[in-house]
Amino acid sequence: MPRYLIAYATRYGTTARAAAIIKDNLGEAVICNLKKERCPDLENFDWIVIGGSIYAGRVQKEVKKFCQKNLDLLRRKKVGLFICCMYDGQKAEEQFQEAFPEELRQSARARAIFGGELSFEKMNFLEKLVIKKFIGVKESVSRFRPEEMVEFARNLKD
Ligand SMILES: Cc1cc2nc3c(=O)[nH]c(=O)nc-3n(C[C@H](O)[C@H](O)[C@H](O)COP(=O)(O)O)c2cc1C
Repeated sequence: MPRYLIAYATRYGTTARAAAIIKDNLGEAVICNLKKERCPDLENFDWIVIGGSIYAGRVQKEVKKFCQKNLDLLRRKKVGLFICCMYDGQKAEEQFQEAFPEELRQSARARAIFGGELSFEKMNFLEKLVIKKFIGVKESVSRFRPEEMVEFARNLKD
């Protein structure tokens, strides 16, 4: 049975939920929160899934660092990449491209852009301001679609 590692970063929990859904649908998988813990030795896994969320057009620095630091090894592994974000279409695609190094995007066996969530109750004043001004959203909204994560996991298993 293939061994899966899911390494992710999250601020408010959307990406953690996406990672958990992917894990549940893979059967056995190890999950690693890049902001809180060191991942186990990557050599022990067949598949490495990397996910992060987008803030002001960029993925978390922990995701960037993880990719850069392990780039050579990751290019030898089966890799799945995903982001959670509020934009879709071309803008989301640009954010995905910004999030992961080109070599990794080229060699990745699976990729996905999942919808995100905006929860005004969790945001601070500045974040609310940014969201209203730049994303044009004035109240909490969810574009979180678990079925896409189930499908992503299914593709990794096929
Ligand atoms: C301050 C702030 C800035 C954001 N900037 C972007 C952005 O530039 N592009 C985008 O698509 N989504 C943006 N989002 C939406 C997040 O990507 C979305 O809320 C996501 O679900 C967060 O996932 P997390 O809880 O795992 O961190 C932003 C959200 C906040 C609160």
